[in-house]
Parts: sequence; C-alpha cells; structure tokens
Amino acid sequence: MKTSLLSSTSSFRHRFGGIGFLNFCVKLWFVLATIGQWIFAYYIASFYGKSSLAGDFEKWNKVLPHGYVQDDWLGNAFVAAHIFLALIMVLGGPIQLIPQLRTQFRMFHRVLGRFYIFTAVLIGIDGLVMVWTRGAVGGLLQHIAISVQALYIIAFAVLALRYALQRNFALHRQWAIRLYLVSSGVWFFRVYLMAWLLLNGGPAGFDPNTFDGPFLWFLSVLVYALPVSLLVFEMYLKAQQKTARTLFQIFTATLILILTVLMGIGIFAATMGMWLPRV
Ligand code: HEM
Repeated sequence: MKTSLLSSTSSFRHRFGGIGFLNFCVKLWFVLATIGQWIFAYYIASFYGKSSLAGDFEKWNKVLPHGYVQDDWLGNAFVAAHIFLALIMVLGGPIQLIPQLRTQFRMFHRVLGRFYIFTAVLIGIDGLVMVWTRGAVGGLLQHIAISVQALYIIAFAVLALRYALQRNFALHRQWAIRLYLVSSGVWFFRVYLMAWLLLNGGPAGFDPNTFDGPFLWFLSVLVYALPVSLLVFEMYLKAQQKTARTLFQIFTATLILILTVLMGIGIFAATMGMWLPRV
C-alpha cells in the first residue's frame, strides 16, 4: 500500500512537478525547432535546387553577395557544396534526435548518424574556406564568431563519433545534441534576427547596408562563439539529475519556454518575410 502510494506520488511529480514542466517545454521547443528547420530546408531545396537545375546560378546572388562568381569554378563549387551539405544537416539533425526513430530503426540511426557527422565536418571546413577566401556578409567580429562555431562543429562531431564507437551511449547522446545545437547556429541566427526585426518594426542596432553593428555582434557572440544553446543544455542536464531542486527545474523550463516563444516569433517572421517569398 505504502509502496504503491510512493510510486504514484513520484509518477505525479514526474508528470506535473518541475521535471514534468521541464520535459514539456523541451518537447515543445524541439517540435517547433523541427518545423522551423524543415521550412528552412524546403527553402534551400526549392530556391537553390530550382535555380541550379535551370542553370541560372546568377540567381544565387540575389541572396548571397558572394554566391556565384563567373569563371571562379572552384569558389562556386565550394558554395554549391555548402548548400548541398546544409540541406543534409538541416533535414538530418532533427531526424537523428526523434527518440522513436532512434530506438526502433537503429540501423537507420547509425547510417544517418555517420553521414551527419561526416557532413558536419565537411560543412565546417567548407564554411571556413568560404568566410576567409571569398568573404561573407557582416564585419570581422561576425566572421570570427562563425569561425569559432565551425571549430565547435568539427570538434563535437569527432566527440559524438568517438563515444558512439566506444559504445558509451550516454556521452554519445550528449555530444550529438551539442553537435546538433551548434550546427543549428546559422538557423538560430536567422530566426532570432528576424524576431528582432519584427519586434522592432525594422532594422535596429545595426546598419542594414553593411550588415554590421552592435546588435549583430551581440547576436553572433551569443549564437556562434559562446552559444546560449549550449549553456541552456548544460542547465537541462543538471535539472534532470535526481538531486536537482524543483525551483531550478522550473527556472530552466521557463528559460526554455521564453526561448521557444522568441523562436516561434522568429520562425514566423523568417518564413513569411524571407524563405517563402524566395521559393
Ligand atoms: C550546419 C551548419 C550550416 C548550415 C545549415 C548553413 C547553411 C547555409 C545556407 C543555407 C547558406 C545560403 C544563405 C541562405 O540562403 O540563407 C549559407 C551561406 C553561407 N554560409 Fe553557411 N551554413 C552552415 C555552417 C556554416 C559555417 C560553420 C560557416 C563558416 C565558418 C558558414 C559560412 C557561410 C558563408 C560564408 C555563406 C555565404 C554568405 C555570403 O555570401 O555572405 N556556414 N549557409
């Protein structure tokens, strides 16, 4: 009687206590992020796919100031590879994290996982080459910040693979999630920037012509160089521990909820203002 009362109290806490609220907020965040990332993937496939199939590579320059340069076949190949690799990353990342797919289709998870990790290393190297040889929008600080992110991507990809090969699945899962979070940095950047533009009714805190200024420095540091997403993930891991205090769990869950609301606003603004008009 006593045991069943204890177990039902703990199951009540699990569902409705701090941990229940935390799990709910994380699921909500993940579902929304997946929808937003797949809309981004749809845009990448349609915009770059259609223009490339039609041989209209100049169309890339409507979006990318350093996209297609006539006769620079090597540089153009790096851009084309980047777009293709980006599509794999944006589609594949969420698929790898869906628990049902991970547990029920283990072989698929393993094959896609290796492919994802290899793609992550390639896109990190390719991105570095693009930033430092072709140039990119924004100022030096933004270029340094995104380069730091490329190093995170490469390092976390190696760690995720290493722990998978060692069959240390607890650590593999943690590094794979960190890899997904830093690889989502370019998507976070777009989404939070669009939320900022929507909430301010237009550009604020930066010069839209040079695409440089304090707000963009702030955003690139918090998204790329010292990612808030990694900090929140560490908080989530701590909040999941048995010894975690309910107040800390609620605090972490509320933080995730606030980020989810901002992300939702950004996904809406990016989809309506940037991605759908281009496809
Ligand atoms: C998984 C990670 C990444 C994804 C999904 C991704 C995705 C993309 C996409 C879709 C574009 C085309 C722009 C657009 O249509 O919005 C782009 C452009 C670009 N990306 Fe990435 N990217 C990633 C990582 C990186 C990294 C790590 C770097 C640098 C170290 C980088 C550097 C660039 C540059 C320089 C451009 C061209 C921008 C310009 O011409 O100014 N990317 N990326």
